[in-house]
Amino acid sequence: MTRPGMHTLTHGRGLLFGGDYNPEQWPEHVWTEDVELMKAAGVNLVTVGVFSWARIEPEPGARDFGWLDRVLDLLGDAGIAVDLATPTASPPPWLGHRWSQTLPVDESGHRLWYGARNQFCPSSPVYRERALAIVTDLADRYAGHPALALWHVGNEYGQICHCDDSAAAFRAWLRERYGDLDALNDAWGTTFWSQRYSDWEEVITPRRAPYMINPTQRLDFWRFGSDALLAHYRAERDILRARTPDTPVTTNFMGLFKPVDYWSWAPEEDLVANDYYPDPADPLAPARSALTHDLMRGLGGGRPWMLMEQATTAVNWRPHNLPKPVGQLRLESLQALARGADGLCYFQWRASRFGAERFHAAMLPHAGPDTRLHAEVRAHGAELRRLAPVAGTRVAAKVAMVHDWASWWALEERGQPSDRLDSTGQLLSYYRPLWERGVAVDLVPPSADLSGYALVVVPNLYLISDADAASLTAYTRAGGVLVVGPFSGVVDPLAHVRTGRFPAPLREVLGASGEEWLPAPEGRPVSCRWADGTGFAAHTWTELVRSDGAEPVAAFTEGDLAGHPAVLRHRSGDGVAWYVATMPEHDALAELTTRMLADAGVTGALPELPPGVEAVRRGPVLFLLNHGDGDAHVPIPAPAEDLLTGSTAEGRITLAPRAVAALRPLDTL
Ligand code: GAL
Repeated sequence: MTRPGMHTLTHGRGLLFGGDYNPEQWPEHVWTEDVELMKAAGVNLVTVGVFSWARIEPEPGARDFGWLDRVLDLLGDAGIAVDLATPTASPPPWLGHRWSQTLPVDESGHRLWYGARNQFCPSSPVYRERALAIVTDLADRYAGHPALALWHVGNEYGQICHCDDSAAAFRAWLRERYGDLDALNDAWGTTFWSQRYSDWEEVITPRRAPYMINPTQRLDFWRFGSDALLAHYRAERDILRARTPDTPVTTNFMGLFKPVDYWSWAPEEDLVANDYYPDPADPLAPARSALTHDLMRGLGGGRPWMLMEQATTAVNWRPHNLPKPVGQLRLESLQALARGADGLCYFQWRASRFGAERFHAAMLPHAGPDTRLHAEVRAHGAELRRLAPVAGTRVAAKVAMVHDWASWWALEERGQPSDRLDSTGQLLSYYRPLWERGVAVDLVPPSADLSGYALVVVPNLYLISDADAASLTAYTRAGGVLVVGPFSGVVDPLAHVRTGRFPAPLREVLGASGEEWLPAPEGRPVSCRWADGTGFAAHTWTELVRSDGAEPVAAFTEGDLAGHPAVLRHRSGDGVAWYVATMPEHDALAELTTRMLADAGVTGALPELPPGVEAVRRGPVLFLLNHGDGDAHVPIPAPAEDLLTGSTAEGRITLAPRAVAALRPLDTL
């Protein structure tokens, strides 16, 4: 049976626009005003009930749905669809008070109390029973309600718990994975530091210990943590699916969020949804956002996804919260749309008067509808109707970038040669030059079918399985272009070092191998030169590597490494493999990117792109977004209609700072 998905929501509605709506914080007369203002703003979907457990179940076993009935009726009558949340992200105080074992415990053994949110242990049988009971009643009550369009399970899953219930669940997970204790002892290498387990009951979560904890125990705990949350998500989802088989089910992701392996989660959802809050103070935010949006598209296998939460201006959870300049709200939202989102929603509709988020931006600020900010929100809602033809269309990419959670977890442990090689930092370094050229990139897991890509970039795969290494090798030999960044192929899935010259499982395809990892002194550039003698700088990391057939493209020029290769390129079968044994500065990585793209025969969306302008093609529409501070003049290939303005553009287009064009070539009209 085909599952419902994003298409179920956009069918007849067009692009989705709206936000979290928390009517329980307001008297009922405000609800009527809310709905009127939502209609005026073009809102067609709101997320309701995320934090309503205590309101629905004021005391154990009680149910108060009356208020929620009225909210859903009101919204339904106004034609506003509801993304109804299961309220299980924030249990009421009575749960923790009566059953303190439902509260999470940190790695030091401290219980975390109620008074905020997220205070639950995903492995607690009591939490699970209570959560599933309320989900069942919620689903029974609203199955068939005309306003119900989407289910939103929990909120931003990410809890990590070290309580006794979690330890028991961890043991059960390990038994399933390893079978017996001998296998566990082998896998964790417990002969090291006298860590051998003699009884399953001795095995615990990696709680705070006097010194560095067993890295494989930690890695398995990351895996277990993601799986434990997923098990709970699935339990809720199955209740919803059984009662409303035609209503899609999702939960909200958090971008490149470390505790949860979204590759394993995404197939369990009917559509991928993300919460994303770029920092206005971050100069790399536009590229970082693009990367995150591409990840969401990748998680959904290329299908349209949904931006479930973004902020209209400043958030209130950073120490110092910069606002978005005028026009930024629109620019950021359209960026997500250009990169595959069919839904553009906010946290939240009306700014709260009380509680921890009362200084967080909203679609409707405290000052009311007669405000600059709300006018921007309305204008954005209105223009989305003009972009309706984009709904359902896809972004086609010839470049794939590999990201893996297990490798991320394993890389960023204590006891590594350096803690400066962060997984997402490497990802962004390799992504940025591609983004600057308007080259579309799909984020993929290491196990993906790579055959459709001309270029596959592996910024870092510290941990790699034999099968995934074989797949990268086969892809290259069959004519692909592969790029591998430093400190890759180092450990196997148990985080045991692969012995021999590195990167052991990729040596052959790379035609190169190394023997020493050499972190570089901090703050001092590593000097290198290209084969033609031009110099460039790298930083943080170097390796002693030799060519085993690859052509040295760049070399180190100083110290013990002087004359040794820094970058190598190898013809392997019908393809080409690159190995980068250091961390080149951005300009040098941009130069490398040019060469790799040439090998792969891949070009960007436009031949010429001024700095700061993002170009991405979604279906037939070319989106141009000016993230720079000045006017940008962009040559365009063919006469086109700008869907945002209805005007025709030809030759070149001028974009003011934060301006966006959505160009549909006239010959496709
Ligand atoms: C998200 C969350 C929302 C709200 C928002 C504030 O983490 O899902 O409930 O807290 O952040 O930015």
